[in-house]
Amino acid sequence: MREVFETKTDKEEVARQLRFIEEGKQIVLNYSEQEGHPLTACVVTFGCQMNARDSEKITGILANMGFHMTESEEADFVLYNTCSVRDNANQKVYGKLGVLNTYKKRNPNMKIALCGCMTQEESVVEKIQNSYPFVDLVFGTHNLYKFPEYFVYMMKRDGMFIDIWESATKIVEDLPVIRKYPFKSGVNIMFGCDKFCTYCIVPYVRGRERSREPEEIICEIEKLVSDGVKEVMLLGQNVNSYGKNLESKTKFPELLRMVEKIDGLERIRFMTPYPSDFDDDMIAVMKESKKICKHIHLPLQSGSSRILKRMNRRYTKEEFLDLALKLRRELPDVAITTDIIVGFPGETKEDIDETLDVIRKVCFDNAFTFIYSKRTGTPAASMPDQVAEENIKVWFDEVLALVQNCAKERTALLQGQIADVLVEDVNSHDASLVTGRMSNNTLVHFPGDKSLIGEIVTVKLEECKGFYYLGKQL
Ligand code: SAH
Ligand code: SF4
Ligand code: F3S
Repeated sequence: MREVFETKTDKEEVARQLRFIEEGKQIVLNYSEQEGHPLTACVVTFGCQMNARDSEKITGILANMGFHMTESEEADFVLYNTCSVRDNANQKVYGKLGVLNTYKKRNPNMKIALCGCMTQEESVVEKIQNSYPFVDLVFGTHNLYKFPEYFVYMMKRDGMFIDIWESATKIVEDLPVIRKYPFKSGVNIMFGCDKFCTYCIVPYVRGRERSREPEEIICEIEKLVSDGVKEVMLLGQNVNSYGKNLESKTKFPELLRMVEKIDGLERIRFMTPYPSDFDDDMIAVMKESKKICKHIHLPLQSGSSRILKRMNRRYTKEEFLDLALKLRRELPDVAITTDIIVGFPGETKEDIDETLDVIRKVCFDNAFTFIYSKRTGTPAASMPDQVAEENIKVWFDEVLALVQNCAKERTALLQGQIADVLVEDVNSHDASLVTGRMSNNTLVHFPGDKSLIGEIVTVKLEECKGFYYLGKQL
């Protein structure tokens, strides 16, 4: 039987959670009067843009309830929004929880919460219950919108409160949000993943693929634009399989065309497209668009057809190369970046050589290289031929060195060009500079002050510094 998913926001649920926010506000007020100072809250985000967006939702709710948001984890309320894509992300959270425990001993009224992808793993929840009893609240990825309700519940009782759902039942998108950057925002266009790459935990912790109605996405972006947003990033694990569960069957290129028409919006990004779903209409829409940024993140994972098959990626080395080289021909000024995994079970030096061959031929503008991490419950975890650590280290270094050379080579090509840069921040090392991104995602630093943040500025790229540029405003 085919599952049927909600594709629209549940307005009643939104109203219900807004009532809990009001109740939470009263609780926060009472506590801060009792304590004699405003209550502080800190949200720490691990993982991908999806989690970053979820954290903006949590922050919106906390700020609405009257918390003062802080970066310090020595706060009255600390929430970790976790990632479980690789084991080191999990280990980091356990380490940090130990530190939080010492803070909580100093401030017994402190509350600690965990949410995100890690909490969808049964073994994690068991470990939290057994080894980290000072955690007050644990919830998952499918019920994030119930945070206001859980918060109120947590404040009214003692002990750990846990609520994890196996799958999503609703889309609830209209709760308050506080964006990290006022001028740019992620927008969820779909949730979950159905691809089941054999190494990957995401389908298990984020559930089945579900798209939102295009009208609701457009409406959200229109609101963002009227609130000062210039750049949106359309978010999904496979954005170009968008629309499969919609009655209208709207496809991703069509959605892009609809977003393009929004007045006042200047830049459109998307993350992540899946290589074998990147069709000619995607290329056409990128050619015709004035707003879609000149950047495609196209995860390769491996250049060996044999390994790709074992990974359950639905393309061969040749198909990936055909696509990437077609993109280079048809969209010459578009940067192509990628993700690569080294050390997948059964991988040999010959397979790594195939990966190096693809890197050389495509000459990626940038790449994230990951050491394979065994995720319990995924098919690859029980494959017999796990690769020896010493091999992985040598191969990883070789892949990284080539990737970095290509990135430098591609970046150097921009020398002397004039580019539009969306200024994001004052430079963290040198306050006389500001930092921004070109349409193709290249970082540029140039003299300026904070009044430029959020502006799109024309800059001459003067000095290539490897992966980024120093420039001058024109
Ligand atoms: N949906 C996207 C990526 C999501 S996860 C896609 O299909 O490409 C982001 C990246 O993490 C992946 O591209 C992959 O390179 C890496 N990754 C996922 N699982 C991993 C694992 N078990 N070990 C190492 N890297 C992994
Ligand atoms: Fe993971 Fe593959 Fe889905 Fe990407 S497409 S989230 S790598 S299962
Ligand atoms: Fe991590 Fe979950 Fe994203 S596992 S990469 S935070 S979807």
